Amino acid sequence: MQWYTGNTFYDTLLIVGFLYALMIFVSSFYGTAAYGGRFGGSGKSKGIKLGSKQGWILMELPGLIVFPIVFFMGQNSDQIVPLFFLAVWMFHYTNRALVTPMLMRVAPGAQGTFAFNVVIAGWITLFMHGYFNAEYIANIGTQYTVDWFSDPRFIVGILIYAFGFTLNVYSDTILRNLRSKNPAPNEPRYKIPYGGAFKWVSCPQYLGEILSFVGFAVMTWNLGAVFVLAITVGNLAPRAMVTHKWFIKNFEEYPKERKALIPYIW
Ligand SMILES: NC(=O)c1ccc[n+]([C@@H]2O[C@H](COP(=O)([O-])OP(=O)(O)OC[C@H]3O[C@@H](n4cnc5c(N)ncnc54)[C@H](OP(=O)(O)O)[C@@H]3O)[C@@H](O)[C@H]2O)c1
Repeated sequence: MQWYTGNTFYDTLLIVGFLYALMIFVSSFYGTAAYGGRFGGSGKSKGIKLGSKQGWILMELPGLIVFPIVFFMGQNSDQIVPLFFLAVWMFHYTNRALVTPMLMRVAPGAQGTFAFNVVIAGWITLFMHGYFNAEYIANIGTQYTVDWFSDPRFIVGILIYAFGFTLNVYSDTILRNLRSKNPAPNEPRYKIPYGGAFKWVSCPQYLGEILSFVGFAVMTWNLGAVFVLAITVGNLAPRAMVTHKWFIKNFEEYPKERKALIPYIW
């Protein structure tokens, strides 16, 4: 991977980005991001709180906007390999910013739990993420000729991406279906998820998300993708642990053999 691109603005911002990722990782051990019914706090706690659907859509929208704008300013934006990565990107963020939030089932009477500072942190990440990747893929990177489609890094990367994305969406679907479409007021808000990779871990949706970004980093072979992988691990590894502990604390019958994020290990 190219550590020094010669573009001073890009290289400096990338260093800032990695320092930001480190900060997110360290701060996640002092408290996970304030969103969702378990960790978002009640609607009466301090600061602006949005509903889950609104919070997710608002936070993730820059993912659908920044990348294409920067991409089409790039000199290689008419090349087939960069265009392929554009398609993967839009596919990924259409799911994350629109499909998943719209399908989300909100618990009856749930107050806003999506803290606005989480939205701001998401914007900072997505602006940098969109810029780093689009600028590298459509402008700076020189490896993306048509031969890249037969490069082992591309082939292995796309396979990891497809596996991670499928695991993420499948696990999100299991979680979603735990709640009825129109939940009765006395329906418990949370249940124990079973099926798929929940057999092994409490948060396969997070494992899938992390693997998606591993795949994207391998198939594009650029540090901008490693940046978002670092942010994602920094966010989701500690959150998987607090979610796992939450399940153990709240369900006596929670399967003992389940790990937090990595089957058999952690
Ligand atoms: N790239 C990143 O850095 C990043 C960061 C965060 C999330 N994500 C991805 O975004 C997606 C959503 O993440 P998330 O943290 O919101 O996931 P989550 O905690 O699993 O919640 C997703 C939805 O499922 C519901 N839910 C969760 N556990 C449940 C249970 N045991 N019983 C019934 N309903 C349950 C939640 O309800 P409540 O809202 O009522 O809790 C929420 O509506 C995931 O695919 C995740 O991988 C990516």
